[in-house]
Amino acid sequence: MSFRKDFLWGGAIAANQAEGAWNVDGRGPAMTDVTTGGSVKEPRYVTYIDKEGNPGKVPSHHPIPEGAHYAVLDDHYYPNHDGIDFYHHYKEDIALLAEMGFKVFRLSISWSRLYPNGDEKTPNPKGVAFYRDVFEECRKYGIEPLVTIWHFDTPLYLEEHYGGWNNRQLIDFYVRFATTCFQEYKGLVKYWLTFNEINGTVMGLDLFGNKGTDEEYQSAYQQLHYQFVASAKAVQIGHQIDPENMIGCMICGITFYPGSSDPDDILANRYQWEKGIFYCGDVQCKGKYPTYATRLWNEHHVQLDITDEDREELKKGTVDMYTFSYYMTSVVTTHESDDMVSGNFAAGVRNPYLQYSDWGWALDPKGLRYYLEMIYDRYELPMMVVENGLGAYDTLEADGSIHDPYRIDYLREHIKEMEVAINDGVDLRGYTTWGCIDLVSAGTGEMRKRYGFIYVDKDDTGKGTYQRLKKDSFNWYKKVIASNGEDLD
Ligand code: BG6
Repeated sequence: MSFRKDFLWGGAIAANQAEGAWNVDGRGPAMTDVTTGGSVKEPRYVTYIDKEGNPGKVPSHHPIPEGAHYAVLDDHYYPNHDGIDFYHHYKEDIALLAEMGFKVFRLSISWSRLYPNGDEKTPNPKGVAFYRDVFEECRKYGIEPLVTIWHFDTPLYLEEHYGGWNNRQLIDFYVRFATTCFQEYKGLVKYWLTFNEINGTVMGLDLFGNKGTDEEYQSAYQQLHYQFVASAKAVQIGHQIDPENMIGCMICGITFYPGSSDPDDILANRYQWEKGIFYCGDVQCKGKYPTYATRLWNEHHVQLDITDEDREELKKGTVDMYTFSYYMTSVVTTHESDDMVSGNFAAGVRNPYLQYSDWGWALDPKGLRYYLEMIYDRYELPMMVVENGLGAYDTLEADGSIHDPYRIDYLREHIKEMEVAINDGVDLRGYTTWGCIDLVSAGTGEMRKRYGFIYVDKDDTGKGTYQRLKKDSFNWYKKVIASNGEDLD
C-alpha cells in the first residue's frame, strides 16, 4: 500500500468562488466583486466609474484609468456575488463531503469578511463567527480543515486606497488578518496555507503572446517580496500561537518541458522553471533569495525595496510543507510557432503527445509525477497536492443524474502517478481535488466549467435553484477514499 494510513483525501474550494453573500453580514467587497463573467473566448472585465462619472471596463488585471474608482454597474453580471451560495449551504455541502468520506476540506477565508476594508484594528464578529461555524461543522464529521489565508481576494479598499500589494503597509494588514485567523481558530484548524498560487503574479505577465514590461515586472517582484515577508511573519506567529500548526506555501505547479533539444530551448525551459516555479518555492522553503534571482531582476532592471530585517524574517519564517496546484504541463521554446496554447498561468506551443481539455489545458498525469519528484528532491519537505481536476462541460440528465466518466479518468490517472511518486520516495501527505463542489471559475467566471463531484444547479447568467446533485464521480471518489487509493476502478 503506497498511501499513508493517515493520507488526507479531500477536495478544495475558495471563498470568493463559492461563498457568495458578497455584501452580507458586514463583508466588504474584493476585486472579484467588480469582475464580470467571461468565457473561454471573452475575458473577464473589471468595471469602474471614471472621474467624469462615466461607467467603463478593462480586462481584469489591467489598471483602471487614473481617477476612476471600481464600481458594480447595473447592466453587468458578477458571478462571484452569489458564487454557489456556500455561505448559506455550508452544512449541506459539508455533509455531502462527509458522505464521500473526506478527511480534509480545503477552503479559504475571505479577508474582507473578517476585515471589510482591510485596515481596521479589530475584526468583524459576524465574519469570525461564520468561519468558526464552518470549521466546527467539519470537525463534527472528523474532517480536517485546510485553510488558505489569502486566495486572490485582497479587500478592494486596500487596492484602491493603498495600491494593494505594491504598498509595504499591506504586510502589517495581512499579518493582523492572519493572526486573527490563528488565534480565533486555534484547536479547530491545524493546516494553513499563507498565499494561494503566490507565483501567479509573475507567471501571469508573459501570457497570451504578451511580454511583461519592465514596469510590470518591477511591480510584480515587489508585490511578491512583500507577500514573502508577510507569509514569513505569519508562519512565525502561527507557530507561536500553536506549535501544532503546519503551515505551507502554495505554488501554481506547472511542469515545463523544452520544445526541442536546441540548447536555447533547454536553457529557456530551465529559466522558466526558475522564474515561474522555483523562485517562490526557494524563498518560502529555504528562507532566502536564490542566486538566479539577480539574473531575473536584472533582466527587467528591477530594483527591490528589501531591508535587512526583511531578510531576517524570510530566514525565520520558512514553511513546514510544500503544497501546490497541478492541472497541466506547458512546452517552452525559443522557436516561432503558430500553434500556441494557453491555460492557467502558462502559455506555450502545443504538445503533440498530449490531449487538451475544452479550455485548452494539457492533460498530462505524468507531469504530476515529474513535478512531485523534482520538488521533493529540492526541498525534502512534506508535500500536498491541494488542487487538481478537470474543468469540463457536464450534462444534467432528465432524471437528475450526471455522468462524468471523463472526470473519473482524469483523476484516476493523476492518483496513479501520485502513487508512483510516493513509491519513489516522495513524502506526500494529502490530495484535495479542485472544486469538489462546482463553483465559479476563477479564470473565466463561468459556472459551466465544472470540476465537482457535486453538481450545483446554477448557470452562467446566475439562474438556477442552487440544488446540489451527486455526479457519478461522487460515488467513485467515495470508493477511492474508502480503499485509501487502492480501488480506482
Ligand atoms: C487555480 C486557482 O489557478 O486554478 C483556483 O487557485 C482556480 O482559484 C483553479 O479556480 C482553476 O482555474 P479556473 O480558471 O478553471 O477556475
